[in-house]
Amino acid sequence: MGTWSKSDWRNKPRVQMPEYQDAEALGRVEAQLSKYPPLVFAGEARRLKDQLGAASRGEAFLLQGGDCAESFEQFSADAIRDTFKVMLQMAMVLTFGAKVPVVKVGRMAGQFAKPRSAPMEAVNGVELPSYRGDIINELDFSEAARSPNPDKMLQAYMQSAATLNLLRAFSTGGYADVNEVHRWTLGFTETDEAERFRDMANRISDTLDFIRAAGVTSDRQHALRQVDFYTSHESLLLEYEEALTRIDSTTGKWLAGSGHMIWIGDRTRQPDGAHVEFARGVQNPIGLKCGPSMTSEDLKILMAKLNPDNEAGRLTLIARFGAGKVGEHLPRLIRTVREAGANVLWVCDPMHGNTIKSDSGYKTRPFDAVLREVQEFFAIHRAEGTIPGGVHFEMTGLDVTECVGGVKAVTYEDLSDRYHTACDPRLNASQSLELAFLVAEELTALRETRLAAAG
Ligand code: PEP
Ligand code: CO
Repeated sequence: MGTWSKSDWRNKPRVQMPEYQDAEALGRVEAQLSKYPPLVFAGEARRLKDQLGAASRGEAFLLQGGDCAESFEQFSADAIRDTFKVMLQMAMVLTFGAKVPVVKVGRMAGQFAKPRSAPMEAVNGVELPSYRGDIINELDFSEAARSPNPDKMLQAYMQSAATLNLLRAFSTGGYADVNEVHRWTLGFTETDEAERFRDMANRISDTLDFIRAAGVTSDRQHALRQVDFYTSHESLLLEYEEALTRIDSTTGKWLAGSGHMIWIGDRTRQPDGAHVEFARGVQNPIGLKCGPSMTSEDLKILMAKLNPDNEAGRLTLIARFGAGKVGEHLPRLIRTVREAGANVLWVCDPMHGNTIKSDSGYKTRPFDAVLREVQEFFAIHRAEGTIPGGVHFEMTGLDVTECVGGVKAVTYEDLSDRYHTACDPRLNASQSLELAFLVAEELTALRETRLAAAG
């Protein structure tokens, strides 16, 4: 790492970043942000790294989820609470399936900047810059709204700080009590549509009854009342990231203070590009999105750059190939990792390879395709003898109609009812929990195979 500095990315080719017109305004915002406190503490990022290391060995499982893009307009305590709540429910179901701790990481408190497939958008013959997330510009289709405005970084910082504050309060203040979390889940499994999950829910109820009878109660055991909840986002807008990057006085190493975990998107992972240059120098756990165009050569270089000491938990490879394509790409990349002797955590993002445009024009994702990609991911790891260590979802606790399917089926006709995402379509609360039950079934089956093989 040697000579790395937090502004070195400026000398590398950058893609997917805005060109701010007013250099002076940008400089003012960067100076201001550089004086603000970091949002996270280095000790937390190191703890998360340890837990992700455990997940890479099959001793934990990662649940990462949240909005595609956080929004200024939809910012509210209820939205944060509802997403946090459904993630806790999912984590509990997954813990039951995997029989290992579930590491909970929100795409929250910083997930604002978006890469786009086209730099410009044309509507009725008018061409304007694409929307790039609320930290950069606005969704409204007007010249003023689409111009990148550096002041938005300050608003994103404030919203992230307030979001994280509420998440910390929920995590430790009693809201996360296991008995409550399970009670919410029973509300789902008691409905007719979710009958198939009732048996697992009842087994969780029995387990909770048993431990309570044995004297393990949430007023006495912190672990039953509190959770660790971490934040993450795509490290895309590097001016913002750099301004929040600080030296951790305990270790003397750099920390991206914008969130616990940051990731590099599938469109910005050029081995010699700005985003890789920034991420390689900070000590946070790093995610790397791997789509169909990831070559073995690039992966090899990226693993060496991003995790030169081969530290467990440092590098999470987030596979996002699309249903039907996992078999073509995952085995070759698993081979590359094996040949390099690299420590990585493999996670499945079944969202970004499964986006389609519906006839009505809405971008959507079929629940069945999402599930199929997860199942292919598990099947390949099982065949290769490697560890499927987590899942990464775009989801919300709100009752939106953005992805089609699920037991409480959202139809193509329903999409227009409550389609609120600022960017990609999210699983709603019911679809998220249903998926957690289905992933838990995969984890149970995997565990049984392993136990049988161990004799
Ligand atoms: C995302 O996670 O919102 C995203 C843009 O993903 P990817 O880089 O995998 O396309
Ligand atoms: Co997305």
